[in-house]
Amino acid sequence: MKHAAVIGIGSYLPADVLTNADLERMVDTSDEWITSRTGIRQRHVVAEGEATSDLAARAAEVALADAGIAREKVDLLVLGTSTPDMLFPSTACLTQAKLGLTCPAYDVNAACTGFIFALQHAAAAIESGRARTVLVLGADALTRVVDFTDRGTCVLFGDGAGAFVLAASDEPGLMGIHLGSDGTGADLLSIPAGGSAAPCTPERLTARDNFLKMNGNEVFKFAVRAIPKVARQALKESGLTVDDVTWLVPHQANQRILDTIADRLGVPHERVVSIIEHTGNTSTASIPLAMDALYTAGKLAPGDVCAMVGFGAGLTWGAAVLRWTKKERS
Ligand code: ACO
Repeated sequence: MKHAAVIGIGSYLPADVLTNADLERMVDTSDEWITSRTGIRQRHVVAEGEATSDLAARAAEVALADAGIAREKVDLLVLGTSTPDMLFPSTACLTQAKLGLTCPAYDVNAACTGFIFALQHAAAAIESGRARTVLVLGADALTRVVDFTDRGTCVLFGDGAGAFVLAASDEPGLMGIHLGSDGTGADLLSIPAGGSAAPCTPERLTARDNFLKMNGNEVFKFAVRAIPKVARQALKESGLTVDDVTWLVPHQANQRILDTIADRLGVPHERVVSIIEHTGNTSTASIPLAMDALYTAGKLAPGDVCAMVGFGAGLTWGAAVLRWTKKERS
C-alpha cells in the first residue's frame, strides 16, 4: 500500500490586522482580559472584496511552489472550511478556478476540525490508489460571521489559510488518523440563520442569528476532555506513544486550552506549537498555519513526529499523526 507524505506546505494571512487595542474601541473589553483569558494579541482580517477562496488560493500557490510539481499532477483538491464564499458552488471549485487546476474539487465542513477531516479524505484517496497527488486546504474567514457587538466571541477569531500537498510515497507520511463527531452538541457552537433550517429574514437579522453563537465554557470543557483522548487513539493507531511526539500541533483556539491539553497529555510546553498570539482562532486554517510556522522557522527535521489535533463545531474532533519526511522549503 502507498502512504501519503507531505511534499509541499504553505500558508497565507490577509494583510489587515485587528489588534486588542482596536477591539477596546469596539466593545467593552481590554487587552489585559483578552491576553490573560486567551493568549491572543492580534488577528488578521480579510479586506473588502476578499473571500475564503482568495486566502485558500494564496496558501495553495505557496504549497505548490514548495512541492515543485506541475499543476497537472494535482488530481484532487479537498478544502476544509465553514465560511464558504457562498452556499454553492463550493469554495473548493472557486479556489480550483483561481489556481487554474482541472482536478475534482470539493469542500469538507467540520468547522475547526476541518483540516483533519480533509486530511482523512486525502490520505484515503492516496492509500487506495485513487489519487497520487492531493492538494489539501484549510481556509476560513470567521470575521465575516462574527458578531462585532458580542465581546464574548468577537475577540477570539481571525482569518487565514494553510495548505499541504500530499503525494504517494513508499514511507509514511500520514500515519494514524482518528476522527469523532457528536451532533447532540450542535447548539454549543453554531450560526443559526442563513441555511435551510432558518433562512435569513428581517426578524432573524435583527436578532443577529446570522452570526456565530457559542457557549464558550462548554466548548472549553469539551476540548480539554476530547483532545487528549483522540490524540492517544491516533498515536496508538500509529504504533507510537506520547513520548514519541516531537511537536504537538493543536487547533489554535485559546492558549489556556493548549496548555491544559499539553498538561493532560504530558507533553512539555516547549513542544507545543502556538501561533495564537499573532493569529487568533483561524478555525480550519489554524493547524496548517501552525505547521507552516514550524516549517518556515526550520524546526522540522526528517523523522519528527507531529501530532495534529483539532476540535470544533458539530461537535467534531480529530487527530492526525504525521512523520515528517521533507527536508526544507524548495
Ligand atoms: N472582555 C471582557 N470581559 C469579557 C469578555 C471580553 N471580551 N468576554 C467575556 N467577558 C466576561 C464575561 O461577561 C464574564 O463576566 P461576568 O463574570 O461578569 O459574567 C467574565 O468575562 C467571564 O466570562 P467567561 O465566559 O466565564 O470567561 P472564560 O474564562 O470562560 O473565557 C472564553 C471565555 C475565552 C470564550 C473561553 O471559554 C474559551 O476560550 N472557550 C473555548 C472557545 C473555543 O475554543 N471556541 C472555538 C471552537 S472552534 C470552532 O469550531 C469555531
